[in-house]
Amino acid sequence: MEISLAGRKALITGGSRGLGFAMAKRFAKSGAAVALFARREDVLGEAAERIREATGGHVWAHACDVADAVALKAAHEAMAEEFGHVDILVNNAGGSISGAFEDLTDEMWQQDFELKLFAAVRLARWCLPHMKARKWGRIVNILNIGARAPKPRGAPTQVTRAAGLALTKVLAGDGAPHGVLANALLTGQIVTDQIARRHERGLAGNLSLEDYIAEEGAGIPMGRMGTPEEYANAACFLASDAASYVTGTAMNIDGGLSPVI
Ligand SMILES: NC(=O)c1ccc[n+]([C@@H]2O[C@H](COP(=O)([O-])OP(=O)(O)OC[C@H]3O[C@@H](n4cnc5c(N)ncnc54)[C@H](OP(=O)(O)O)[C@@H]3O)[C@@H](O)[C@H]2O)c1
Repeated sequence: MEISLAGRKALITGGSRGLGFAMAKRFAKSGAAVALFARREDVLGEAAERIREATGGHVWAHACDVADAVALKAAHEAMAEEFGHVDILVNNAGGSISGAFEDLTDEMWQQDFELKLFAAVRLARWCLPHMKARKWGRIVNILNIGARAPKPRGAPTQVTRAAGLALTKVLAGDGAPHGVLANALLTGQIVTDQIARRHERGLAGNLSLEDYIAEEGAGIPMGRMGTPEEYANAACFLASDAASYVTGTAMNIDGGLSPVI
């Protein structure tokens, strides 16, 4: 399906690498202007340039830690001044803090909530008035399959992501009368730096990264991990007019991995 985002402006947090980069590139290719937030300025600048070169699109980027409320507010203000309003908000920035439950401190829990939940709450709060005024908006929350099927290990993210699912439903109810649609993508295993970091942490024993990706992928019903480009296609659909009657839902992008629909 040919999807157009022509004339739309999208903000993608964590847009410099992995899923965020692939979504930004896909959106730009579909005609959207894109704004990107991520922490490392050099990586971000390089990503913005790569997207411009590949698509000829308008890309605006600002280095910012979205888990830092003060920095996020300043970044949003800079964006409003230089890039303008946001039609499409993709809350994607994330990472993983994990460990044995007893070893997780309050600070670690708080950091995970600041990054994965409160950044999304704050950005939605600031972007919604413009979306409502324009009677058109899309919010896509990037979560994981643990949001609906939490594993006993893997806190705090399993808990934060479940909260993200509830936030999606709340935003969908709030936005629906105004043409603002909110949905979530529940991520399985997609080949990005996140997978490479897992490999670096020694979770793969002596396997090479390539063998680790193949072995983990073999345990997924589709027999492989997904690609960021496959993922970006689903996000592009939710961000577009093609999804005009889809709100308050969550889609597994996981090759069949999740035990629940
Ligand atoms: N890949 C998977 O299989 C998988 C599975 C489940 C969930 N997810 C979720 O999907 C999202 C994207 O993951 P990914 O695999 O694409 O990861 P990735 O390749 O590590 O990319 C993460 C992106 O987020 C940015 N970022 C991280 N922390 C940030 C912060 N505090 N403030 C601003 N930007 C920040 C990173 O840039 P900087 O480091 O420069 O800030 C980078 O652009 C995350 O929320 C992740 O938890 C992914």
